[in-house]
Amino acid sequence: MTVSDAEFKAVLGRFPTGVTVVTSCDGERPVGVTVNAFASVSLDPPLALVCIDRRSHLHDVVVRAGYFAANILGAEQAEESRRFAGQSGDRNERFRQTPFHSGTTGAPILDAAIAHVECRVVAVYPGGDHSIFLGEVVALGASAGEPLIYYRARYGSLHPLDGGAGDINGVTLGATLDTTLDTALDAGIDTGVAPGQRE
Ligand SMILES: Cc1cc2nc3c(=O)[nH]c(=O)nc-3n(C[C@H](O)[C@H](O)[C@H](O)COP(=O)(O)O)c2cc1C
Repeated sequence: MTVSDAEFKAVLGRFPTGVTVVTSCDGERPVGVTVNAFASVSLDPPLALVCIDRRSHLHDVVVRAGYFAANILGAEQAEESRRFAGQSGDRNERFRQTPFHSGTTGAPILDAAIAHVECRVVAVYPGGDHSIFLGEVVALGASAGEPLIYYRARYGSLHPLDGGAGDINGVTLGATLDTTLDTALDAGIDTGVAPGQRE
């Protein structure tokens, strides 16, 4: 069976995701691209992955730099997603219009992102027209805010189911997590702590 591009997009697009801007540095120059192919992989050691199109200018930048940051966008940041996907504005304007600071690795951290995960690249796997960058998480941080959601090529936000144990509204789930780190993250403090150091 052959799979057309249209079928692939129509079916895989029914898997809702968050949206990140993956950043790195080309020498001194900040570089960033909108990426929803981001996933956590392993807790011990702490690993996460991103899939980047081989034609993207970010691809070889990450290969050379050996690090990246995944900036998780908030519900108010659809415009940033479009900007870093090349759908609005000029590529060279992306960071001029977006407040950011340098993270522990040197990768740009978007000030308005609701969370960020900084990784050192530990492996690059072929993935068709993309490469799969596996990164060891070396620093991370989060602040309050709802995530931006991408579903069937449209943006949206979360509508938590009300009631019921384990709902995404945080009360039940939050109680099982490391309270100290969570409190710091909720307060918007960049812990600079790798997840492996939590225990
Ligand atoms: C919501 C969304 C998700 C995307 N996810 C990815 C992705 O996971 N990997 C990727 O390489 N490109 C992804 N793209 C496409 C890139 O953002 C886009 O091709 C961008 O223009 C590449 O930047 P460049 O042209 O500066 O290299 C996504 C675009 C959007 C709008």
